[in-house]
Amino acid sequence: MIILGIETSCDETAAAIVSDGKLLSSVVSSQVEDHRIYGGVVPEIASRLHTEAIVPVVRAAVTEAELTVDRIQAVAVTMGPGLIGAVLVGLSVAKAFAAARNLPLIGVNHVQAHLAASVLLDDPPQPPYLGLVVSGGHTDLYMVRGAEDAELLAKTLDDAAGEAFDKVGNLLGLPYPGGPHLARLAESGDQAAFDFPRPRLRSQDLDFSFSGLKTDVKRTVESLGDKLTESRADIAASFQQAVIDVLLDRVRRAVRNTDNRTLVVSGGVAANSRLRQALTALSETMELRLVLPPMKLCTDNAAMVAAAGEILLKSGKRSGPDLDAFASLAR
Ligand code: KG4
Ligand code: ZN
Repeated sequence: MIILGIETSCDETAAAIVSDGKLLSSVVSSQVEDHRIYGGVVPEIASRLHTEAIVPVVRAAVTEAELTVDRIQAVAVTMGPGLIGAVLVGLSVAKAFAAARNLPLIGVNHVQAHLAASVLLDDPPQPPYLGLVVSGGHTDLYMVRGAEDAELLAKTLDDAAGEAFDKVGNLLGLPYPGGPHLARLAESGDQAAFDFPRPRLRSQDLDFSFSGLKTDVKRTVESLGDKLTESRADIAASFQQAVIDVLLDRVRRAVRNTDNRTLVVSGGVAANSRLRQALTALSETMELRLVLPPMKLCTDNAAMVAAAGEILLKSGKRSGPDLDAFASLAR
């Protein structure tokens, strides 16, 4: 089955083509430069830019796959969670495309799609597995049992991990989004220089919290005043390590609680090299099968949407023309 995937939930306009778990093309047009001067994504600007980019991006995905449009057999699209106006752009195009060509349409949950990126790997994991999604909007731990069966084991009680990276990046004067810039700055820093808190490390449930950590970094930055410049890399490295310690602690607990030994990690923060190293080391000591999609499948893309859509379509699911967008993870 040749599936067109469409993703417009935040600030990447993306289209991809997947066929029977194989990636034929993936095109991502990022708006990040357009939002940078505002220090974050401006929803109205995001919607407008998606409207401009979506048709050329879909065309580019078809061309890159060396196909013609008439070969596409189904359309998968992110229906949420995300910026509602942004999601609606992709949804409208997907509906129009499917209706015009009389193709099946399937709405995909963006967070589930992050985990479905693993389906595109050579030896994809089979459920049940533990799935950690660490992105700008989510820090969720799931027990994935099937195409539509993912039990939420833990979520963040406040900021998402990526959001914390971005906010701390901002405190350190780094451009938006702070995550990748902070990771680069941290390379020359000492992770033991500052003893930032590891929120909820001793709590029995699995939920995450990052806002206290961010506040502690803020206080440190303020107290350093003029001396901040010489400590920026150390703060970045110490903060990054605190986030990694919290994520690993939760994973360790979840493995023990569920006795499941397959761990899939995805989402933008899963592109962080130190986190990838730490997860790899943990998987060796705990004898886990760690599934970490390549970085370009971890950050927002449409390949993961097409992959998630293919699983749902193959299990007989279809969306109707009344498919609606949603903003938050209430579903
Ligand atoms: O999954 P994603 O592309 O979009 C959402 O669904 O949110 O994740 C974006 C987030 C941003 O917060 C960004 O700063 C973070 O992922 N990120 C990183 C890295 N690359 C992206 N955070 C830490 N280290 C990185 N290398
Ligand atoms: Zn995402």
